[in-house]
Amino acid sequence: MNPIDHFDGNPSDLVARRASFRTFDRKAIDSEAREVLVDWMNGPPAAPFGNAVSLHLLERFDASAKDAKLGTYGMIRGAVNFLVGAVAPAEHDMEDFGFVFEMALLKATELGLGSCWLGGTLKRGAFASAADLSRDLVVPAVSPLGRAVDRRLTDRAMRFFVGSKKRKDSGLLFFSEDFSKDLDLKSGAGVAWVQALEMLRLGPSASNKQPWRVVAEGDRKRFHFFVQRNAGYERFSSVDLQRVDMGIAMAHFALGMFENGVSGQFVDEPSSAANIELPERSSYIASWISD
Ligand SMILES: Cc1cc2nc3c(=O)[nH]c(=O)nc-3n(C[C@H](O)[C@H](O)[C@H](O)COP(=O)(O)O)c2cc1C
Repeated sequence: MNPIDHFDGNPSDLVARRASFRTFDRKAIDSEAREVLVDWMNGPPAAPFGNAVSLHLLERFDASAKDAKLGTYGMIRGAVNFLVGAVAPAEHDMEDFGFVFEMALLKATELGLGSCWLGGTLKRGAFASAADLSRDLVVPAVSPLGRAVDRRLTDRAMRFFVGSKKRKDSGLLFFSEDFSKDLDLKSGAGVAWVQALEMLRLGPSASNKQPWRVVAEGDRKRFHFFVQRNAGYERFSSVDLQRVDMGIAMAHFALGMFENGVSGQFVDEPSSAANIELPERSSYIASWISD
């Protein structure tokens, strides 16, 4: 199914509106929004590699008492509800997780709810048991969900610390044919793939590292996705957050293409990008093929 069918409005507006919020109004999500969200979570968009990603809404958490236990260490204030996502270990598990969980956070944005990806400092086991998950599932990330209140100093400090408002220039992220040639986005204003790449560029990533790299083929129908890892970053988390980032990037790109009238799909086809010489610490993830 077309992923934009899972949204009422334009995903590009949601991508522009979404930001990380870390302070909430201490109230549970109102029942109307909750109902829509839970319904949505029961039939989320299909993940590109077919892994089942499950979503669980934790209700009425006493965030002040439980923050420490959950390992969010006071970074998140006043959140009563948390969204917990889980996936079974498998090939491309983290990309699929990133794809589906980001779609859920965009849906939450549509419902007027603030959110914040949390994948670095959390007690995965505590969230897994609060959501009553089987032990063979991994919880790569969670998010508080609720009405965000005016950002307090902690929010602003955090955003400054990770440089949240900044995104890398497209010239550092997107290439034509191989990594040596820039992709000209200007000549394609109004073109689906240009919009899709801009939506990708605005996406969230762990510590705002933006490890996504995309190489477009000459016909602009195939786009190869690579991760360029930050040295030593894997030490921050027991899950591969940069592969989660790739799934988020794929979600934004797919939404951008579909929103602009181009359908297609992701395939795992490393042979189609085998002739592309890779920069250091980079590896192939997937290719988008337009129909
Ligand atoms: C996979 C992932 C994990 C993240 N983990 C954390 C976290 O543990 N704590 C936190 O405060 N923010 C976390 N973030 C939020 C990022 O810092 C944030 O998305 C990024 O700086 C961009 O800012 P924005 O979301 O406001 O656009 C995470 C984001 C992603 C995508």
